[in-house]
Amino acid sequence: MKVIQVRHAGGEYPVYVGQGLLGMTSILDRHLEGRVLVVSDQNVAKHYLDRLRPTLSRIQHKRKIILPAGEEYKTVASWQRILDELVELKAQRDATILALGGGVVGDMAGFAAASYMRGIRVIQMPTTLLAQVDAAVGGKTGVNHPQGKNLIGAFHQPAAVIADLDTLQTLDERDYRAGLAEVVKYGAIRDPGFFAWLDARADALAARVPDALVEAVYQSVRNKAEVVAADEKEAGQRALLNFGHTFGHALETFTAYQRYRHGEAVAIGMVLAARLSEFLGRCPTGTSDRLERLLQRLGLDTRLPADADPDRLLNLMRLDKKNRADQIRLILLDDIGQASVTPCPADDIREVLVK
Ligand SMILES: NC(=O)c1ccc[n+]([C@@H]2O[C@H](COP(=O)([O-])OP(=O)(O)OC[C@H]3O[C@@H](n4cnc5c(N)ncnc54)[C@H](O)[C@@H]3O)[C@@H](O)[C@H]2O)c1
Repeated sequence: MKVIQVRHAGGEYPVYVGQGLLGMTSILDRHLEGRVLVVSDQNVAKHYLDRLRPTLSRIQHKRKIILPAGEEYKTVASWQRILDELVELKAQRDATILALGGGVVGDMAGFAAASYMRGIRVIQMPTTLLAQVDAAVGGKTGVNHPQGKNLIGAFHQPAAVIADLDTLQTLDERDYRAGLAEVVKYGAIRDPGFFAWLDARADALAARVPDALVEAVYQSVRNKAEVVAADEKEAGQRALLNFGHTFGHALETFTAYQRYRHGEAVAIGMVLAARLSEFLGRCPTGTSDRLERLLQRLGLDTRLPADADPDRLLNLMRLDKKNRADQIRLILLDDIGQASVTPCPADDIREVLVK
């Protein structure tokens, strides 16, 4: 097992990364306090709720809520249901929420923890690759509003994060690959050594070999922890984590959120951003090919679909919230392992969208 300490303005918390962690009572015991509410979804509970039994059996006052799975349930109504359970449990300020699931469960349970009695403890137990390397670390919590994703939320840091890599073995192939795109992102924007390691172990990673998974999740969390420690509220370097996301969001919107997982769209977006970086002469020739080859070996699509309409994509990119004064601000690569926020002229962006 590996442990990363994440520092933030109000203190620090550990992220445990390893195998067999859900069943390890010693870890949970260290962080549990007061009455306990377990929040999970139907898919995850079916596989993993039992593994918490040894720990939970020793706790007198506890409840659980199993929500339907999926982004469409990341709503104010689900958040309200979690709050109702906390009231039923007669939870006090010292209560703990255990969030067992992917990013959807983590974001909702985290937001309930942020808002109930102005803040109680949450322990994140992420079960998707995306949640382990991204969503569970950093303290962003929230739910969707019909008018926008993550429109309602709060910053609320967890008391601990327990990333049990065994859970990744039951993850759907597409969800797994989508998580790998975010793993590659850390190497591409700030860690050339990690990128080289990913290149060397791509086949093991695609096959979910446990020791490769430990290293990939550990290095990703370490990178995310360094970024959020330096910029907790997204004033500066945290923006680099959006590499590939402006193109990716436009593609997700263009395909009405029906065709791509978020990470799949980000993979295509990262390659487009790298191509643009090269086109503008910002990074060495061959950088985007290196990135594309790695993503392909991990099983990800890297090209825009044949029906993609460059002008519509460009218009969607203009709506991105990072933009200032009508320029489209993108994260571009200066090299593998180095990125910066750059305002880009629409005509240049169009060049890479039409190719
Ligand atoms: N808070 C943040 O900083 C942050 C960062 C990135 C993404 N997010 C959010 O995360 C969400 C996406 O997270 P996600 O990709 O984990 O989606 P998810 O939570 O919907 O999980 C994907 C699917 O996998 C299932 N699942 C989860 N773990 C499983 C396992 N171990 N085995 C089998 N099935 C399993 C889930 O039930 C679900 O059907 C989005 O809502 C996004 O906004 C938040």
